Amino acid sequence: MRILSIDTSCDETSAAVTEERKVLSSIVYSQVLLHKEFNGVMPSLAKRAHQERIDWVINEALLSSKSSWDDIDAIAVTYGPGLAIALEVGINKAIELSQQHNKKIIRVNHMEGHIYSCFTQNSKGTPDRTYEFPYLVLLVSGGHTELVLMKDHVTYEVLGETRDDAAGEALDKAARMIGFGYPGGPIIERLAKEVENEDVYKFPRPMTKSEDLDFSYSGLKTSFLYFVKNLPESEKIEKLNYLASSFQEAVFISLIKKTEKAILQTGVTNLLVGGGVAVNKRLRNMMRALAKKHKGQVYFPSYKYLNFDNAAMIGVAAHYRAEKGLFITDTKELDRVPRLSLLQSTVK
Ligand code: KG4
Ligand code: ZN
Repeated sequence: MRILSIDTSCDETSAAVTEERKVLSSIVYSQVLLHKEFNGVMPSLAKRAHQERIDWVINEALLSSKSSWDDIDAIAVTYGPGLAIALEVGINKAIELSQQHNKKIIRVNHMEGHIYSCFTQNSKGTPDRTYEFPYLVLLVSGGHTELVLMKDHVTYEVLGETRDDAAGEALDKAARMIGFGYPGGPIIERLAKEVENEDVYKFPRPMTKSEDLDFSYSGLKTSFLYFVKNLPESEKIEKLNYLASSFQEAVFISLIKKTEKAILQTGVTNLLVGGGVAVNKRLRNMMRALAKKHKGQVYFPSYKYLNFDNAAMIGVAAHYRAEKGLFITDTKELDRVPRLSLLQSTVK
């Protein structure tokens, strides 16, 4: 089944053509430069940019996969979570195209897409991994931090989530506090690497002592802010890499400890990690060590672009939804759900 997929949930306008787990084309038109001066995503600007670019992105996805509309069997679109007015652009386009070309629609949860980025292959079917359910999934992006039990395809149970900021958001805010722009995650990673991820300042490890599987980064953020404010300016500049490294360690240690708690509670040792922060090499090494300790296996998105927002992962998730017959039968059912949870997207 060949699927044309669309994602406009945040600040990337993206379309892809996929077949089962294979990506035949993936086009992402990033808005990062547009939002840079605001240090975050401006919804009204995002909406306008999606509207301006969506047709181009879809046409490019069709062209570079050498597909005509006759080759396309269904259209997949992200319906949440995300920015309401941004999601709307993709949904309206999917409805318009489905009517114009008489195609079925599959709606996909953006976080489900991040999970399926770990299943995604290139056009030649690489990597050819085998999968053994159940999986414990750690989702770490700019808007979400969640631990999910995936019992089978399209079957999710949310075990824990952040009570305030997401892990990526915490890294972005810390980067801003030491004078860098958005996105902060890659800058923090680079600075931390300069000092081999040394944890000099030992900032508080959020929620590691609590029994539940939730996350919280506001306490860590506040203690980092005061620590940085109280440092003399010259020392701040001199110690930038140690500050970044210690902050990153605190965030990642809390992710690892909670994932380990989830392993012990569920007995599930096979792990998936998705979302923008999953590209981080330090986090990947820590997750690999955790999986090894518990004699499990860990999969990450296999190509760099798959860590970030893209429509290819939406197309792959849609394939598994289609296998379960989860098509939209009436387009009136298809509406944006900005705070959509994975629980709402699971098959019963
Ligand atoms: O998944 P994503 O592209 O968008 C959302 O759906 O949020 O994730 C973006 C997040 C940002 O917070 C960004 O700082 C973070 O991913 N990120 C990183 C790295 N590259 C991007 N975090 C840590 N290390 C990185 N190298
Ligand atoms: Zn995302």
